[in-house]
Amino acid sequence: MCRIFAGIIKEGDIAPILRIGLKRLEYGGYDSAGIATIYEGKIHVKKDKGKIDEIHQKLNLDELKGNIGIAHTRWATHGAPSKINAHPHLDCNGNIAIVHNGIIENFLELKQELEQLNHKFVSKTDTEVIAHLIEEYYKVFKNFKEAFIEAIKRLQGSYAISVISTYEPDKIFLAKNGAPLLLGKGKDFNFASSDAIAFIDKTKECIPLEDNEIAIISLEGYEIYKLGSGTKVNRKPIFLNWNLEQASKEGYDHYMLKEIMEQETSMRWSLNAQKIYLELISDYMDKADKVFLVGAGTSYHSCVVGSYYYSKLATVTTIPVIASEFIENYGSSIDINTTILFVSQSGETADVLNAVDFARKRACTILAICNVIGSTLTRVARAYVLQQSGPEIGVAATKTYTSQLIIHLLLALNLAKKRGKISQYEMDEIKEALNEIPFLAGKILREKSKEIKEVAKRIINKNHVFFLARGLNYGTALEGRLKLLEIAYIPSTAYPAGESKHGPISLIEEGVPIIFIAPKDETRKQIIGNMMEMKTRGAEIITLAEEDDEEIKSLSNIFIGMPKMNSIITPILYILPLQLLAYYSSVLKGLDPDKPRNLAKSVTVL
Ligand code: G6P
Repeated sequence: MCRIFAGIIKEGDIAPILRIGLKRLEYGGYDSAGIATIYEGKIHVKKDKGKIDEIHQKLNLDELKGNIGIAHTRWATHGAPSKINAHPHLDCNGNIAIVHNGIIENFLELKQELEQLNHKFVSKTDTEVIAHLIEEYYKVFKNFKEAFIEAIKRLQGSYAISVISTYEPDKIFLAKNGAPLLLGKGKDFNFASSDAIAFIDKTKECIPLEDNEIAIISLEGYEIYKLGSGTKVNRKPIFLNWNLEQASKEGYDHYMLKEIMEQETSMRWSLNAQKIYLELISDYMDKADKVFLVGAGTSYHSCVVGSYYYSKLATVTTIPVIASEFIENYGSSIDINTTILFVSQSGETADVLNAVDFARKRACTILAICNVIGSTLTRVARAYVLQQSGPEIGVAATKTYTSQLIIHLLLALNLAKKRGKISQYEMDEIKEALNEIPFLAGKILREKSKEIKEVAKRIINKNHVFFLARGLNYGTALEGRLKLLEIAYIPSTAYPAGESKHGPISLIEEGVPIIFIAPKDETRKQIIGNMMEMKTRGAEIITLAEEDDEEIKSLSNIFIGMPKMNSIITPILYILPLQLLAYYSSVLKGLDPDKPRNLAKSVTVL
């Protein structure tokens, strides 16, 4: 899991541009980084272990000369984080430099073959074999493009690769299979990156590469070829409407906080998601017997909430499934009659794409909710709707989660209409509730921050935190727990409150904090029962409930009052204080919420 960035410019040095772009890609990995350029016919490399700013401070990456270069920020898969294992990697003679995102599955085999041909390896990475393989083929073909293609054909696994070479000093060679890679087209420059955010301040014209394609960029433009047949591909750029400002911190200490606070806006965008695609997806869902909802991490939690929406509003059975379990659990029983709605912020999560691949081979109908246009998921889906959250940089998903919930709710409403399951009165009520979402989000975020910070102080030194809820907000408990666990490293457990007496209750003793998500809905009476069970055992009861709910207030040690709202929208709004709780807990513990250890924004390995 890494990110790559490469570029060629007409005038000046490329290194500062690569460094700045790389910084924006750090969410994809940040254990080491490096840049290689070509200057006066030679390749020059600077790389080290650590985050980009630290490396820059130490080595001054901007000093690298040359108008063409490649760059990489790493999240180790093969070989521990170290200077030697950091990319770019070189061939034996330092004429070829490569950066790579992905995993080369047959690298050991290739390495042995190359070692027998006297190639000397310096790193423990799978990537280095590619440089030597190209070097070997160059000896045979004496033509760099051919050598590059032959080498790529030998690779098994996933990759987004970018290569520069002294043999073709004005060209960047690119290859893609199973990892994202996009070209950025300009007048006096051309770029390639794992994510358009690296070059979006320079150009909004973007060309996504497909799997098994190679591309060459130069100052003259770009060429794309099919890897197998060598056929030239004509692909026009798409226009990206994100700007850099949307992707920068805008004065907040962390991206995570900025992204939490901007949900009033992102929710408004999501509520305006393209109606024709919502319509198309709900048409497919309507015709299906049952629908699987598949995602990983936070996106899976949106599927859990979604499954309640589809059932409650439209009487459609949907089965939420964790992407990495999908094939084992349902692989044998899916076929042409199966409809699957995949949910993925990035559209690049390997577990999701693996399930997609499997389902496509079984001729299932693939639908998608995704945030990134041009991502693999949007390219392979029969129909997709963009969740319109804008770019999310913080590793922990926040605004993209609430956007996904809104899309599920809009789809469920469409389905309910189609199936005649909703009266005009109910429809009007829900529409009114939907309209209120952004305003309520703004209000909660503005008014609750201080209070939540105090709650964070109370929990940061606890050994364990429980999240309990019933019904629609079971997903909120799962997501609140994931946020606290991954950002503040506080061990946490989420359970449906009704199930808590079947196990978790044995962990309750004096002072154990339990966060109850308890809005005024059909489950309220039962959840009060669960609160009492826990209170009698000494738990510290922290509740999120409607502000005038005196009964719940009297049972709570800490009461977080939420504005009155239609219960159908509570999952979208009750998660907000829990996102803030995770954020403040992390900051109070002196951690960096944007870069939780061992995690990456988009996990592109299985
Ligand atoms: C990683 C991220 C999570 C995210 C999950 C799924 O684990 O750290 O925040 O929810 O991947 O990502 P996706 O892009 O498929 O929604």
